[in-house]
Amino acid sequence: MSISSTTGPSTTGGPGAGPARIANAVVLVTGANRGIGRALVEEALALGAKRVYASARQPVTHPDSRVTPLVFDLTDAAQIRAAAGQVASLDVLVNNAGLALYDDLGDPSVIERHLAVNLYGTLAVTQAFLPLLTASVGAVVNVLSTGALAAIPVIPAYSISKAAAFSMSQSLRALLAGQGVRVHAVMTGPTDTDMSRGLDIPKAAPESVARAIFRGVTSGAEEIFPDRMSASLEQSWNGGAVKAMERQNAALVAAAPAAPVASGMSGT
Ligand SMILES: NC(=O)c1ccc[n+]([C@@H]2O[C@H](COP(=O)([O-])OP(=O)(O)OC[C@H]3O[C@@H](n4cnc5c(N)ncnc54)[C@H](OP(=O)(O)O)[C@@H]3O)[C@@H](O)[C@H]2O)c1
Repeated sequence: MSISSTTGPSTTGGPGAGPARIANAVVLVTGANRGIGRALVEEALALGAKRVYASARQPVTHPDSRVTPLVFDLTDAAQIRAAAGQVASLDVLVNNAGLALYDDLGDPSVIERHLAVNLYGTLAVTQAFLPLLTASVGAVVNVLSTGALAAIPVIPAYSISKAAAFSMSQSLRALLAGQGVRVHAVMTGPTDTDMSRGLDIPKAAPESVARAIFRGVTSGAEEIFPDRMSASLEQSWNGGAVKAMERQNAALVAAAPAAPVASGMSGT
C-alpha cells in the first residue's frame, strides 16, 4: 500500500474540506489502555464521537457501548492488517502508542526498538487505515513530543524516533493534502503518565492534554502544543523559518512527477 492512495473522497467533502470534527465521528486511538491514550478515549466520548476504536496489545474493556476494542502490536504487520479489516469507516486516526526507554546511545539496538514502534509502527498503522481516511476525508493525529524539536538527552533514542516521526508527519501532510486528509503533529511536553514516572518535573494531566489535542484537531492546527510547557513554543514555531520552509518544500509535491512520491524519491 502506497501513501498516495488512489481511493477518492466519498461523501463528506473533498480536498480542502474543513478541520475534522469529533462529534458524530469514528475515532481510533492507539495505546488506549493507559496514559494519554486512555484520556483521549474519554475525551472523544465526551465530545460525542459516534464510535471509538480503542486499540491496545490486550483488549480494552469499557462500559460505554460506543467503544470497540481492537488488538494489535505496532510492530506486528499481520495484526495491524487484521485490525484494519474489522473497521468499516474511520474519520480520525490518533497514533498515540509509543515507547520511551532511558539510554545513552551506547547500544544501537535501543534506537532500533524505538524506531520500530514510534516510526515504523506509526507509519504501518497509518498505511493500513489510509484507505478509510481518504474515503472519509479524515485526519491523522500523530502524538509526538517536544523531543522531536529539541533532543532530550536522557532519552536520546526516543528523541531520534520522535524527530523521525515528525519528519514523516510533515511529508505525509504534504503527500495527503491533495486527498483532503489532514495530518496533525502533537508536540507533547511532560505529561503525568507511566512514561514520565521517573522524571521529577512539572507535568500536565493527561486529561487536559487530551482535551487540547482534540481542540487542536477541530481548529485545524497543524502542530498542536497541548500543555503549558509546549505551548510556549507555539507562537515562534508557527511564525518561524522552519514552518515556512516546510510549506515551501510541500509545494514540490505538485511540481514533482507523480510516481516517485509513493515509491521513494532519490537524490534529495
Ligand atoms: N508522558 C509524557 O511525558 C509524554 C511526553 C511527550 C510525548 N508523549 C507521547 O505520548 C504518547 C502516549 O504516551 P503516554 O505518556 O500515555 O505513555 P504510557 O502511559 O507509557 O503509554 C504508552 C502506550 O503505548 C503502548 N505501546 C507501547 N509500545 C507498543 C507497541 N509495540 N504496540 C502497541 N502499543 C504499544 C502501551 O501499551 P502497553 O500498555 O501494552 O505497553 C501504552 O498503551 C506516546 O507516543 C509518547 O511518546 C508522552
